[in-house]
Amino acid sequence: MTSNIDELINPARGIVSREIFVSAEFYNSELERLFARTWLFIGLESQIPNPGDFFTSRMGEESVILCRDAQRKVHVFLNSCRHRGMKVCRYESGNTSLFVCPYHSWSYTTDGKLQGVPLYRALYEGTLNRDEWSLIEVPHLALYHGSVWATWDADAPSFEEYLGDAKDHVDQVLDCRDGRPGGAEVIGIHKWVFPSNWKFAAENFLGDTYHNPSHRSVDMVGMGPSGTRGASSRRDNEYSGGQRFWVGFPQGHGMTGSLMPEDTAYISTYQHHPIVDDYFRHCFHERKRRLEAKARILPLVGTIFPNASYHGRQPRSICVWHPHSPTETEGWRYFLVDADAPAEVKDVLRRYYMRYSGPAGMTEQDDMENWLYATKASSGTIARRYPFNYQMSMGAYKANDPIPGDVSLQITDQTPRNFYRVYANYLKGVGWDALLGRDGASLRAAAE
Ligand code: FES
Ligand SMILES: [Fe+2]
Repeated sequence: MTSNIDELINPARGIVSREIFVSAEFYNSELERLFARTWLFIGLESQIPNPGDFFTSRMGEESVILCRDAQRKVHVFLNSCRHRGMKVCRYESGNTSLFVCPYHSWSYTTDGKLQGVPLYRALYEGTLNRDEWSLIEVPHLALYHGSVWATWDADAPSFEEYLGDAKDHVDQVLDCRDGRPGGAEVIGIHKWVFPSNWKFAAENFLGDTYHNPSHRSVDMVGMGPSGTRGASSRRDNEYSGGQRFWVGFPQGHGMTGSLMPEDTAYISTYQHHPIVDDYFRHCFHERKRRLEAKARILPLVGTIFPNASYHGRQPRSICVWHPHSPTETEGWRYFLVDADAPAEVKDVLRRYYMRYSGPAGMTEQDDMENWLYATKASSGTIARRYPFNYQMSMGAYKANDPIPGDVSLQITDQTPRNFYRVYANYLKGVGWDALLGRDGASLRAAAE
């Protein structure tokens, strides 16, 4: 089935087969050809500030250990013992000087070296070379504005090249609200498993604001930070007066946000909490001063190819969609605040994040319902014969206007068309030149 990818994934016609959302063949191909090659989000440096700190994360289906060694160097290791494969670290996070395997007690230092082998002298001396049996480490990792990314592909390009011009948008998720680079702290992570293909979630964050009717009930309730009722009451309307854009990049990333007017003034937010409102007013002016023209970009949501999505402002979080099976996904939502924000600000944000997001969050519940029913209703013999439609706003976009990338100023399926164009390339096993658009093949060429 993966041999006729171009028939099943046809962005030029705006058609994508349901098979990619339900079939085991596609899923297995994704694990080998996509998740084992792309740069993947691992966590934040602030989760492991001290030597010996660790956090267990995931790459595709597999558990990995993010840790800081005794010399403060950051590593990402496969969480599997070199002896007989036992999961070496079964904790979510902590601090240690040694990872001791629970099975036969081989132990590894925080830089991954095999140190302890019980009864080494009696049983292994002269045979086992400990230097050859370190924990398996990713060939490349990148520390970027306080976040950590890694890839299993030794030939992968740098993370900066992989990110491309999506940088302008992602930076504004990772950076302090006042524009200082990095500085984010994770105040909680929601983890939950849901019966849906991971791409429903990744695609939704490419800028599917078309699904707003799904959130009608939360809009009516008025659960936003200022608690007002109205059309946008999931969040405060910071975007008022801006030019909404949807933008895609050759590497597969896509997002939506607003380009605010040059003379835009602070729009009051968190109006029931004067300390929080004051904080964000201060951040608004500082950010404008520091970022200058780039401060005009206000991010809403986006996906860094393939499975790292974000909410850029309210609620501020990074969401990673870990694959479990063709029809099951584990969502991890990292909630971010500025590490040096006042305690009251962090507390108000935490409460807002919880009522918005995660398995019990009022907005996230709406999305879950769509993704899991769509997965189920697309799994049947008859359903699988009919493709999904991605023909919205076909051709209605421009290059680098008013911001870099392929830009649409109206709601569009251009970002998912581009995402699936790149996705098909990974499954075909093409080289990095084509995957990054270095060869000039772009979403424009594919979609016209
Ligand atoms: S599997 Fe880890 S020590 Fe044997
Ligand atoms: Fe949604």
